[in-house]
Amino acid sequence: MKPVDTFAVEDRHMPPFFTKIPLSIERGEGIYVWDESGRRYIDFTAGWGVTCLGHAHPAIAGALAEQGRKILQNPNSGLTYSPARARLIELLTGILPANLTRVFFSSSGAEANDAVIKLARKATGRMDVVSTEQSFHGRTISTASATGQAKHRERFNPLMPNYLFVPYGDAGAIAEALGESTAAVILEPIQGEGGVNVPPDGYLREVEALCRKTGAYLIVDEVQTGFCRTGPLFAVTDLGIRPDFMTLAKGIAGGFPFGAFALTEEVSAKLEKGDHGGTYCGNPLGCAVAHAVIRHLIDENIEQNVKSVGAMIHEQMLLWQERFPAMIADVRGRGLLLAMEMAGAATAERVFGETLKRGMILNLIQTKVIRLCPALNITPGEAEVALSILDEALEAAAKG
Ligand SMILES: Cc1ncc(COP(=O)(O)O)c(C=O)c1O
Repeated sequence: MKPVDTFAVEDRHMPPFFTKIPLSIERGEGIYVWDESGRRYIDFTAGWGVTCLGHAHPAIAGALAEQGRKILQNPNSGLTYSPARARLIELLTGILPANLTRVFFSSSGAEANDAVIKLARKATGRMDVVSTEQSFHGRTISTASATGQAKHRERFNPLMPNYLFVPYGDAGAIAEALGESTAAVILEPIQGEGGVNVPPDGYLREVEALCRKTGAYLIVDEVQTGFCRTGPLFAVTDLGIRPDFMTLAKGIAGGFPFGAFALTEEVSAKLEKGDHGGTYCGNPLGCAVAHAVIRHLIDENIEQNVKSVGAMIHEQMLLWQERFPAMIADVRGRGLLLAMEMAGAATAERVFGETLKRGMILNLIQTKVIRLCPALNITPGEAEVALSILDEALEAAAKG
């Protein structure tokens, strides 16, 4: 194959959406990736919380190859039945909150959120959607409208109307915002992109009760928190919450672009033919990969690994906070969705640079928050290696 100057081509021909990191990644295996020059790095971003089984996992490669040899896309797409889709639906409905018995598919998280907002309006005949400040629900025009961050909204005015925002973690504010015209409340169980913000205990349960009282639907956006990222299969699993809709993507297929949304019988009964669809709605390739990923998460008890390695990293973050009080303002998170809020953007960038020099890739969000979200099957030994690199980087950044 003709060699390509990767940096030059991407810089010349892609729109200027990103501040790029000068790294061209060619391949990966487990928690490691290699750049074009053959240098190895630890990926502590999991591709923004997606590659839950690490890179090039045999379960995923196997499912891709096996389904690829059978069929990628059905004739007439969702109009025909698919055993790969049915197998995934059976698996999902066995692990989702028990009231979520209907499932449909998408190719991304934004697309799933977009669909459920539309369907909540249709099913209730109401228009208002209550969302939270600092939330992130996607980049389509409707999900940007539902996102509570000025940087994702202001430059696209006018956005879609009838979105209201309240502070995250404050059930009283939701109570005040809810009214007869509220179709739904949309919430992340832990805000991911907004800075890994964990709400107070009992928050989701209170919001659920408020929704019940007013007839508004509760949409739980588990795009980032789902599939063991915070420990349990879903962040709401252990809370006993019964959402009306749940949206899923990212980890669902370990890197294959895929998403889903689940809803109740009651909501489904209010929907009709033509309300939703899509060319890839439950594409057999995506379904086969998602099935392989979810089976692996369950069969290998990845939840337990997330809890124990997550606790180990959390403990180390607390020690760092004591050791570098001028650099680390806060540490937080759950499972393997963790964050260190640095004193400022310059400190966060220094740590990022020192870590990169030492062969480890971090994820910076909200300019000064370092989000730690490695593959969920990272071993304790691998985590120790990563933590020692981060330790050296923090030490160097403190001196610098
Ligand atoms: C909670 C949440 N919802 C929705 C999205 C959008 O998902 P996607 O980028 O797959 O469209 C994201 C992406 O980061 C997210 O974290």
